[in-house]
Amino acid sequence: MRILVVGKGGREHALVRALADSPEPPVIFCFPGSDAIFELAEPVAADGVESLVAWMQAHAIDLCVAGEESYLVKGEGLANLCAKAGIPCWGPPKESAQLEASKEFAKNFLLRHAIPTARATACDSLDEAIAAIAGEFPTVLKFDGLAAGKGVAVCPDAASAGEFLDEVLTQRRFGAGRVLVEQCLTGPEVSVFAAIVDDTYLIFTPARDYKRIGDGDCGPNTGGMGAVASRQLVSADVLARIEAEIVRPTVAGLRREGLPYRGFLYFGIMLTPSGPQVIEYNCRFGDPECQAVMPLVRGDLAGFCLAGAQGQLRGDLLHFDEGWSVCVILASAGYPESSRSGDRIDGLDATGDARVYHAGTRRSSDGHWETNGGRVLAVVAGATTRAAAVAQAHAAADCIHFDGLQRRSDIGILHFT
Ligand code: AMP
Ligand code: GLY
Repeated sequence: MRILVVGKGGREHALVRALADSPEPPVIFCFPGSDAIFELAEPVAADGVESLVAWMQAHAIDLCVAGEESYLVKGEGLANLCAKAGIPCWGPPKESAQLEASKEFAKNFLLRHAIPTARATACDSLDEAIAAIAGEFPTVLKFDGLAAGKGVAVCPDAASAGEFLDEVLTQRRFGAGRVLVEQCLTGPEVSVFAAIVDDTYLIFTPARDYKRIGDGDCGPNTGGMGAVASRQLVSADVLARIEAEIVRPTVAGLRREGLPYRGFLYFGIMLTPSGPQVIEYNCRFGDPECQAVMPLVRGDLAGFCLAGAQGQLRGDLLHFDEGWSVCVILASAGYPESSRSGDRIDGLDATGDARVYHAGTRRSSDGHWETNGGRVLAVVAGATTRAAAVAQAHAAADCIHFDGLQRRSDIGILHFT
């Protein structure tokens, strides 16, 4: 099988690795890829989604796997173009990817299908937003479009809300678009991933993302500073409720609205005192949750994704380890406000059995790995208990050094507080 994976981060490195571990190892290509991914996958000469699909056609690609979301909604949409070209694609078409690309579309979808979610009002102007907030703090403000994880602010007071609204509605930091003013929910967050094939689905191992930069969940939000994954992360009762009240009605809603879906759907869920509620949908696997979950996946991921992209959910091809997986992110100096590239990375050979996925690295001209972005590496270890997985992941992370390295010391330890 010849597979092309789209994306370049730690998530795609983990996906490429998991696909490569399939029993009949596929030939893997990656676009745009990274130096680390190119050790497992071949680079592709393309400069956009149209030329990428033309390249896939010319190179007899059997399956396209969408890692990153942006290509799903670029131009005509990656999956739409693949469909035209007759290439099976694991990832939804543009019209369905609106679930991630537009927060307002997602909110209306949730409301139409009576799926539990926070109340929200869409606002065009500062005055409308202030009226919708109605002096109730904390409030949650969300830009209605893709904003690389920076489009959401949980605002404790009027000053912070005013600052976000000024950036988004006045300075147009993310371009044109409305703002959702949303009720602030409370409770632990869990990321649930379903592989959806038309009207069927398979739920993968749930995970928790550690979004804040600092220990104890302090400081600004990031793309994710670590993750923990385990079937035991949420109780069987809670998982059953998430399936019955959220996953199943979402899959049914997509069908009823004629929104085709074959690919991973990520449910960002808050376990509120009144039950699980949807915070967001993403039309892809999570990053860094993917790096924690993939080592728990056993079986034939390549066969599973190909069958899924062709319309058959082959749950029999996969099973999931019952243990725990812990992923510690190593970030570069300045992250999340900025990032620093060019710091030499040492200790990559000393991490033993832990898996190390590269997110923002490159090979320097003298052959060393160096930093090349905000989140640099994901160090992942698994064990039957959370404590053992935590100890192994942190011990492996201790082996790696670069100037300005930032990491959290409580990943996997701080547990649902
Ligand atoms: P999102 O990009 O929608 O996942 O939002 C980013 C983060 O903001 C989430 O992971 C939550 O921590 C927080 N958040 C989003 N919506 C809400 C909400 N309605 N109530 C409380 N926190 C929220
Ligand atoms: N881990 C959060 C995300 O992938 O959006």
